[in-house]
Amino acid sequence: MALRVGIIGAGPSGLAQLRAFESARQKGAPIPEIMCFEKQDDWGGQWNNSWRIGLDAHGEPVHTSMYRHLWSNGPKECLEFSDYSFDEHFGRAISSFPPREVLFDYIKGRVEKSDVRKYVQFNTVARHTSYNEDTQEFTLTVEDLKTNLTETHVFDKLVVATGHFSVPSVPEFTGIKTFPGEVLHAHDFRGAERFYGKRLLMIGSSYSAEDIGMQAHKMGAASITLSYRTAPMGYDWPWNTVERPLVTHFDGGTAHFRDGTQDDFDVVVLCTGYQHKYPFLPSELSLKSPNVLYPANLYKGVVWQQNTNLFYLGAQDQYYTFNMFDAQAWFARDVMTGAIDLPSLAEREADIQLWLERQAGLTDHDAEADFQSDYLRELIDATDYPSFDLDAVSQLFKDWMHNKHTDILGYRDAVHRSVVTGTTSTKHHTLWLNALDDSLERYLHGPSQDKDTEAGLTDRHRGRQGNIEGAGAGPSLIHHAITSAP
Ligand SMILES: Cc1cc2nc3c(=O)[nH]c(=O)nc-3n(C[C@H](O)[C@H](O)[C@H](O)COP(=O)(O)OP(=O)(O)OC[C@H]3O[C@@H](n4cnc5c(N)ncnc54)[C@H](O)[C@@H]3O)c2cc1C
Ligand SMILES: NC(=O)c1ccc[n+]([C@@H]2O[C@H](COP(=O)([O-])OP(=O)(O)OC[C@H]3O[C@@H](n4cnc5c(N)ncnc54)[C@H](OP(=O)(O)O)[C@@H]3O)[C@@H](O)[C@H]2O)c1
Repeated sequence: MALRVGIIGAGPSGLAQLRAFESARQKGAPIPEIMCFEKQDDWGGQWNNSWRIGLDAHGEPVHTSMYRHLWSNGPKECLEFSDYSFDEHFGRAISSFPPREVLFDYIKGRVEKSDVRKYVQFNTVARHTSYNEDTQEFTLTVEDLKTNLTETHVFDKLVVATGHFSVPSVPEFTGIKTFPGEVLHAHDFRGAERFYGKRLLMIGSSYSAEDIGMQAHKMGAASITLSYRTAPMGYDWPWNTVERPLVTHFDGGTAHFRDGTQDDFDVVVLCTGYQHKYPFLPSELSLKSPNVLYPANLYKGVVWQQNTNLFYLGAQDQYYTFNMFDAQAWFARDVMTGAIDLPSLAEREADIQLWLERQAGLTDHDAEADFQSDYLRELIDATDYPSFDLDAVSQLFKDWMHNKHTDILGYRDAVHRSVVTGTTSTKHHTLWLNALDDSLERYLHGPSQDKDTEAGLTDRHRGRQGNIEGAGAGPSLIHHAITSAP
């Protein structure tokens, strides 16, 4: 009987698994019976964004945390598929930091070319899994969300590719219950236009806080305060943005911070990250981890230690994304088919411990980029995934992080060079700060939205005037400076 493989989720990771088998098929290898279940009506995962918040049309939790005007936050050259380049997809060079719709188009391009859609059952949610130790089979119950009919399927191998940036971590703060303004988690953020003129408090000091904060700045927020628990991000923020230590409590619309300062706010955005949640798995198969580069209990970041028929893709915190999911999927495929022999439980554990020890010693972003590059190197060396220059990509990550520190509003205007094709990206027709149309059409075919940013309140809101009285002093003073400016 052919091997039966179940894949849960058709985001970039699940699609990488489909593509890995398709690549083997094209080389003449026999491939398993494959079924992939996706709860949304299209593939693409986070990139298949939605206006909805809370529950979707079927009453399921909305998966995507993406929003209008989301542009890639890392250079596209760091995530490029090594078997499907941006040049191949778009037929020409494009810029290094495209908007969501452009990256979504790229992800879809590769799988549409591969004819793997036939494996995916859309509008189908994984509900429950059990594992029979005797037969070494998984029984997976799925529900068709259109008919509400459930079905069970039996698999020899199960791939969990459901992502881990969808279920928000929502901490409690004293007094937040009676905060009179708007309180939301980043997962429910859909666009910053409504923050025009508002005083924003972002809690968290990672990518969501940074990007939603700068979206709000771009859209004309009066002030942005970023409140950190562990360490400030330390960027050279625009004039209306400050960092403060963590909020201790709220008193009406006033937030009090650990350093004894306080300020008034209209909106609180909790950019406090996400939880690993796998409600369709029994607890003994369910990954429990904070958002880290090397979650414990996964051999090579992919194979479940206590049951090597179970695989997780994309469970890491991510410098690399699409190409890392590929490397993992190729590795998982070869373990499933027996092309890669797994070492003993103890040897696997020793390998995991080595990675965890190295992870514990990481001190900065540069070291983290090197860490994940080395991780990818091991996976790629073990498979026939087309290799690429990982040292060069690690350097791209470092250049990118350097650019962020030099110019937090302008780093997306930089150009980078592809290690897959050698192509240097083009400069986009519009600076990120001026770009108010994030459609594929506008991105590819212009015209530019660049404008004279020297004068006027709106331009000042967009961060083009640095020397406003009170800049850097705190939201109240900044707000005063804006409202009293001529
Ligand atoms: C706000 C935000 C911005 C980001 N920006 C970038 C960026 O600029 N560049 C970048 O490279 N990466 C970015 N990422 C990272 C992003 O997570 C990855 O690019 C990628 O989407 C992860 O792919 P995945 O397939 O592992 O997970 P996901 O994309 O989350 O896909 C998981 C899929 O599983 C499905 N699913 C979940 N539960 C079930 C179930 N029970 N049954 C059936 N199907 C299920 C979901 O519907 C979804 O389609 C961003 C993430 C977030 C949250
Ligand atoms: N394309 C884009 O522009 C874009 C935009 C947004 C997000 N993203 C992606 O989305 C993913 C998730 O990013 P994320 O920033 O949402 O999550 P994250 O990277 O996991 O960061 C979570 C943040 O929340 C803080 N936090 C957690 N619990 C807290 C608490 N109780 N009190 C205060 N702070 C708390 C953490 O602080 P500590 O440091 O103290 O732990 C950390 O700063 C990333 O892959 C990112 O690349 C991309």
